[in-house]
Amino acid sequence: MIITNNVKKTKRILNVQKLDNKVIGFVPTMGLLHEGHLSLVRQAKAKSDFVVISIFVNPIQFGRGEDYGSYPRDIKADSKLLMEEGVDLIFCPNQKDMYPSDFSVFVDETELSQSLCGKSRPGHFRGVCTVLVKLFNVIVPDKVYFGQKDYQQALIVKRLINNLNYDIKMYVLPTIRENDKLAMSTRNNYLNDNERKDSRCIYEALSLGKELIKQGETRVFVVVDKMKNVIMKKRSTKIAYIEILDAVNLKSLKKIKGKILIALAVYINGTRLIDNIAISVK
Ligand code: PAJ
Repeated sequence: MIITNNVKKTKRILNVQKLDNKVIGFVPTMGLLHEGHLSLVRQAKAKSDFVVISIFVNPIQFGRGEDYGSYPRDIKADSKLLMEEGVDLIFCPNQKDMYPSDFSVFVDETELSQSLCGKSRPGHFRGVCTVLVKLFNVIVPDKVYFGQKDYQQALIVKRLINNLNYDIKMYVLPTIRENDKLAMSTRNNYLNDNERKDSRCIYEALSLGKELIKQGETRVFVVVDKMKNVIMKKRSTKIAYIEILDAVNLKSLKKIKGKILIALAVYINGTRLIDNIAISVK
């Protein structure tokens, strides 16, 4: 396994693989890897000849006052895990290679980013799209792997690949959860025992929403209100959003019908967690 932080060297290594007709699989991450990340890595391993993982905590996708400075980093632990998975290359670029002092070109998705996390974290997806374009330009992957945990991100990346004419096949894989159904996330590390217990209300709220819809409820506000009650029972919580949207275009719905997304972002004593369920309703 090669670990590199150098853009030129990474390009050279990948050129050699491509000349050898190897299929390049790529999983972009911000590190502190858990089973959610590793599920993507395993699929990449199964479906490609040369697997690249990037680890880069991307400053421009964090807003002011967010956790860029405290976001946990442990490249040693990550490399050990990736070595065990048989990954071929870890790319952890330097800050100055990614964002030189004259950096002034950004990539902005302007439609799907208007709702959910795009609305509650202005500039977030501009940062995500920009860093991914840079990473795609260095790695030139044939296949990329993303998690449904970040549903909106995955939709935006799909649009980006399409709109910018990348020859990349994208896979979106299911959310991996802890035993009590909390979606795995690097930010779960911020939670103490009580907060960790309280965080169960997130999946409980999503499940209630799903159940109400299955029972025939078609009014968005009724489902959202009942979900809100579940979250607000815990004193540590603050709701950033709970929304039920069209799962294809993320537009709001008059009536719950078709392929829909139930998505939420909740703060547990300041730790921002997101989760979602996509379902089809007849
Ligand atoms: P990060 O949060 O590290 O996530 C990297 C990838 O892992 C994303 O595609 C995310 O959806 C996926 N992932 C995270 N938790 C998961 C879980 N519980 N189950 C399945 N997949 C999960 O997302 C980012 O980093 C960044 O925005 C990035 C795309 C790297 C750009 O900086």
